[in-house]
Amino acid sequence: MPASVVIGGQWGDEGKGRIVDLLARGARVVARYSAGNNAGHTVINDRGTFALRLVPAGIFYDDKDCVIGNGCAINPIALWEEIEGLKARGVSAERLHISDRAHVVMPWHPLIDAADERLRGPFAIGTTGRGIGPAFVDKAGRAGIRMCDLIDGAGFRERLRIILEYKNAVLEKLYGLEPLSFDAVYNEYREAGERLLPYVTDTSLLVQEALDRGDEVLLEGAQGALLDLDFGTYEFVTSSVPSSTAAGAAVGVGIGPNRINRVAGVYKAYTTRVGNGPMPTELFDEEGERLRNVGREYGTVTGRPRRCGWFDAVAARFTARLNGVTSAVVTRLDVLDAFPVIRVCTAYQVDGAELRSFPANTTVLARCTPVYEDFPGWETPTSDVRRFADLPANAQAYLRRLGELLGAPVDIISVGPERDQCIQVRPVV
Ligand code: IMP
Repeated sequence: MPASVVIGGQWGDEGKGRIVDLLARGARVVARYSAGNNAGHTVINDRGTFALRLVPAGIFYDDKDCVIGNGCAINPIALWEEIEGLKARGVSAERLHISDRAHVVMPWHPLIDAADERLRGPFAIGTTGRGIGPAFVDKAGRAGIRMCDLIDGAGFRERLRIILEYKNAVLEKLYGLEPLSFDAVYNEYREAGERLLPYVTDTSLLVQEALDRGDEVLLEGAQGALLDLDFGTYEFVTSSVPSSTAAGAAVGVGIGPNRINRVAGVYKAYTTRVGNGPMPTELFDEEGERLRNVGREYGTVTGRPRRCGWFDAVAARFTARLNGVTSAVVTRLDVLDAFPVIRVCTAYQVDGAELRSFPANTTVLARCTPVYEDFPGWETPTSDVRRFADLPANAQAYLRRLGELLGAPVDIISVGPERDQCIQVRPVV
């Protein structure tokens, strides 16, 4: 059985968590393949409302294996809190598996994250402050500590001693910060390692064996393709290695790329972004405020208000192609229910010319102004609709046009936060 990937097609927060929660029903394994607790996935189901950070959204099913893959960066303290929080609400973590190759977010990473942001001043990225960027920098710089190190008593002590000496020199001499105490870090992280030990395994083998058995595997992306290190709005991106795109999924869980054959690209019916960096369709007026209020657009991890604007089809088409999207999922259609006119950006105007492709250079993107196609709104509630044919005609026309612009069929539409508030046009997995 091949694997399917769920990716975010915009700047994150597209509603991937709720879509994974929905699609997980048909899967046997659900695996996260990138990022860390900078990602926040909100899931609302019959067990309540949950804000997941690292745990895959398949955790709510008792019969699914949930994997935190080698491509993730794990803050073991935050992960333990998340596991305990889930258990306290009756959600078992018995089938959670953590890759022995995943990198660990150490206490110096959030310190460096904050210090870098301060030093960047007006060029700050607007990170989530969770230390994820510095953790991936250390991964690429070969100065990381992995889960297999963390659970290896004497080995961890030795590795921490070498790395902390170097990191303390960086904290003191470069950033003017206090050094960290070896004993305090060792004791806290050793304890965290011991608690997580039962979950740590070779998850690459687990996923490969599931595929060999013919089980359906769902690979859960984090953030969005426009935050990708290679193809996003660099440098206002996340540092996740592997990539947050569908191509990163194979590396991030340790399977061959030929095992993936379906890619669901999740898109909000409009656009949002948190953090800094250009966003051509951002609205600074009452309509933007209205989108934020109706959509309750505040970050799951940081609570920051999200920047809101109309659907950017130039950016969305770019990410649909980049990810090989086979099914588009449009979320939060209901947020647009009361708008009399709905706009879609189909091209950019820049330096007197029309641009239909997404530029690499963020200073060019910052100068782009949107060329809009206007759609009459439907001005009717859609939250109770469960069949495409029952949607108002204007909503159907809007979705058809989004599908055309994306170059992929719109196979799922979400019209509310609850698990069943979805219109499934065609099966995705
Ligand atoms: P970092 O990943 O914390 O380093 O933040 C880098 C950029 O990615 C910032 O603009 C963040 O706001 C953004 N970002 C990181 N994770 C998410 C997410 O899950 N949703 C939306 N934006 C995110």
